[in-house]
Amino acid sequence: MDAQHHKETLLFVDDEENILDIASEYFEFKGFQVLTASNGREAVRVLETERVDCCFTDINMPEMDGLALAEHIHHTDNTIPVIVMTGYPSLDNTIATLKNGVVDFLIKPVNLEQMELAVRRVLRQRRLFVENILLQKEVEQKQRLEKLNRELVYKVEELNLVNRIMSDFAAMGSTTDVFRRVVDMTIEVAHADGAQFLVMNEHVAQPFEVVSAATGSVIGVEAIRLPEALVASVVGDEIPLLVDGCQGKDILPDPVRSALLVPMKIRGKVFGVLTAAVCRDDLHFSEKDLYYLSYIARNAARSIENLALYENIYQNLFSTLYAFVNALEARDPYTQQHSERVARLAILLGQEMNCTPEELDILHFSGHLHDIGKIGIRDDILLKRSGLTAEEYEKIKEHPQIGANIVGQLGLWDREKDIIRYHHEHYDGTGYPEGLQGEGIPFLSRILAVADVFDAMASGRAYRKKIEEAVVLDAIRERAGTHFDPKVVETLLQLHQEGRFPPPSGA
Ligand SMILES: [Fe+2]
Repeated sequence: MDAQHHKETLLFVDDEENILDIASEYFEFKGFQVLTASNGREAVRVLETERVDCCFTDINMPEMDGLALAEHIHHTDNTIPVIVMTGYPSLDNTIATLKNGVVDFLIKPVNLEQMELAVRRVLRQRRLFVENILLQKEVEQKQRLEKLNRELVYKVEELNLVNRIMSDFAAMGSTTDVFRRVVDMTIEVAHADGAQFLVMNEHVAQPFEVVSAATGSVIGVEAIRLPEALVASVVGDEIPLLVDGCQGKDILPDPVRSALLVPMKIRGKVFGVLTAAVCRDDLHFSEKDLYYLSYIARNAARSIENLALYENIYQNLFSTLYAFVNALEARDPYTQQHSERVARLAILLGQEMNCTPEELDILHFSGHLHDIGKIGIRDDILLKRSGLTAEEYEKIKEHPQIGANIVGQLGLWDREKDIIRYHHEHYDGTGYPEGLQGEGIPFLSRILAVADVFDAMASGRAYRKKIEEAVVLDAIRERAGTHFDPKVVETLLQLHQEGRFPPPSGA
């Protein structure tokens, strides 16, 4: 853009030609671009094609007078200031021109310097006016963008939340985890002061609490407990409920102000109710919270259903495998219930040695199934009453690996598989199948080894007589650090000393 375009353009409208000449000369000299017209109609034509920053006009002109021109400009572009010059000012004229948006009034004969001052003043005002309009537009635009942005952020948050609810519940390992997560998520999503998960049970008339949690230190769990009748009505109606406002005052216990109750269903049957409460006057649940909670409840219910299905399959498989072990043990009066006792002793040792619930679960499983590999060994070797040949002993030694293969094939019990594989390893590395040593042997296998040998010795075997408990304990103590992990042996002896030892039931 060249400098010419930056010049401000003035339009002079007057039927006296000499005034136009003088003004043109003066203002061009002062750096303005000057356009002229001899009456209103001509001026309108100029305005149609030219950009004008300020218009000076006489009032009395032929064809179209100054007032009509001012009115026209006011209606077509109200950013162009109009300055009226007249030789005959009257009150009527003045009021009429001001009504038409005229910004200044000069009385003829007009002094050029006076005109210049007026031009500079109105142009300054115009710039401010235009800037203000632009600014306003910018502010509006900014506000619109901010609103859009807020909506977008909200949508993204909503989407994230929905995704998180789905993936969280899909990743849960147990139903207890799901219950706990449901309650935590309810508090987080609905900004609740407290939430409870109540489960129905056919043996109990009212739903009982499984998990409850409360945020904030002042509100106890008792405070957010909702009336039983309210919970029962949600169970009966099978639809989510929002209790709030005046209705809430009659139904809700103090200090609860607002409450949400959502039934949880599996295959259309209500099995529990999720409740949430707020105890602050400034906070109330909304329909949106109810929607989110229903969504959480639906996902949690689906996850619980899947887990129950899985746990059922798991339990069925375990029962099938254990039935094999039972059948195996039943053929030999000396080994009847051996695995059951080994599992019990291993769990007792595990508890004493601070095993996690998961580890105890593994001990339960591998204790019961540690010898399942004996299925793969011929009866004439397995049930042999006299001493085994070296070759037969090698066959027997295959049972931990066979057992691991059986359990491992299902892909459900990888940790259990290893515990079973290594239950005949010795602490000093002289065991089988791999000759692992010390801490290289899985901890739970080291526990299982002590439990296994203790029970085998104490309850007798096909090839030898039952041994006294004290003698067995001595024998175990002697093998601490060679066959067994000394820490496990120490725990066994301590349990025995404290009289917490279960007497071998096979006696
Ligand atoms: Fe074994």
